[in-house]
Amino acid sequence: VVQACGKPLRSRVHDDAHGAIFANVSDFPQLPAGFRFGTSTAAYQIEGAATEGGRGPSIWDTFAAQEGRILDGSSGEVACDHYHRFEEDVALMKRLGTKDYRLSLSWSRIQPTGRGPANEEGLAFYDRLIDTLVENGIAPMVTLYHWDLPQALEDDGGWLNRETVDCFAAYAAIVAERFADRVAHWIPINEPNVASFLGYAVGTHAPGRTLLFDSLWVSHHMLLGHGRAIIELRRHGATSVGCANNHAPVWPASDDDADVGASKLFDALWNGMFLEPMLLGRYPADLMPLLDGLPETGDMATIRQPLDFYGVNYYNPMKVAAAAEDAEMPFVFRDVLGYPITDRGWPVVPDALREWLIMFRARYRAALPPIVITESGAAYNVEPDESGVVDDQLRIDYLDAHIRAVATAIERGVDVRGYFCWSLMDNFEWAEGLTQRYGLVHVDFETLVRTPKKSFEWYSSVIAAQQPVE
Ligand code: NOJ
Repeated sequence: VVQACGKPLRSRVHDDAHGAIFANVSDFPQLPAGFRFGTSTAAYQIEGAATEGGRGPSIWDTFAAQEGRILDGSSGEVACDHYHRFEEDVALMKRLGTKDYRLSLSWSRIQPTGRGPANEEGLAFYDRLIDTLVENGIAPMVTLYHWDLPQALEDDGGWLNRETVDCFAAYAAIVAERFADRVAHWIPINEPNVASFLGYAVGTHAPGRTLLFDSLWVSHHMLLGHGRAIIELRRHGATSVGCANNHAPVWPASDDDADVGASKLFDALWNGMFLEPMLLGRYPADLMPLLDGLPETGDMATIRQPLDFYGVNYYNPMKVAAAAEDAEMPFVFRDVLGYPITDRGWPVVPDALREWLIMFRARYRAALPPIVITESGAAYNVEPDESGVVDDQLRIDYLDAHIRAVATAIERGVDVRGYFCWSLMDNFEWAEGLTQRYGLVHVDFETLVRTPKKSFEWYSSVIAAQQPVE
């Protein structure tokens, strides 16, 4: 029986508003020895201290300051104030029992304008953070770019400008040279599909551009940045390099040819466009008509660097239908009905994670390195009750079901080596501001007080109940 605080954790099979019935924690599966349980965060979402330590502005500072961009008008200016409270946060990770932690570096803390010499104060902050993690037995997994491009680079065209790729490679060299002695695991770019689609195609994320299909250049440059950064990371001592790609199973809204066609196109844009270049060195054939002029000679070989692990960020499946003839994009999104939803309205479909992993392995088998779930989690906006308890049972159910889905995929032969919960703590959720709480730890954004939730105790118990590594 999995124990929490000395007491057996009661399994709660409940029938909530959405009719969900989730399983029981007492028979929680054993994951293979050495399986990594971690948590994930990103610099802009937690650090705050946006103008301290010589940090330059990023596109998220600019975007969040624009009227109407962020749901509640908030920004990452303070966020969780992790910049000043990282010791407390590392202590929480230690208490949780996680030996792995995925964080990102703020590029504009290290190079305030994205070019030129490094800002020593920025490097020194990450030295302190990384040292504190390592001293506490926690292995950092470092993402170089989690969406916060230095504003000065955006002023010159951002990821639409191929020169940004050269800047990114130079930044990768700086950070690897400084930190690769203590950081084993590296990821160049978090979710390039989300960053290019939301940031440059439809404009709901920074930098807020609405280039529609012209944003495919952005995707190509991010892919090239991925490859170039990996070359620099390895050249400067990185030993384990992967990716963190958001993958969503794409379901057609009906079996009409038009809906099936639209869903195939969207699947190729969302999933195939990033995984095929990284693993196979080519774009999906379905996309070639859209990629006129791409790629330049040699680019695909640069993008296809060997990966030590393939990181998957999974949240939910998406349902796609054909759009009206005169629409800007040929597809539209439909609600995935018949499943529970999180407080953000996202469908909870753990089976889709299991099936996607099994499909992924079957289709890309020879090209596929070990997989790590680099993000998985849900927004449930539970506040502390009168006695200070944050009873987020639905997050426990969510994590339970998704880790079980991973365990079943492993039983079916998929090589998954880790699961990183998004997120360690509630944080700034991009265009949703501070309205969506993904954390195992509750953060009061007025007082910045941290309160571990019930899900924190549960995750801790799950980790403690795993067999120790021989
Ligand atoms: C994926 C992103 O990497 C992360 O920054 C975000 O907070 C979560 N999705 C939840 O939306």
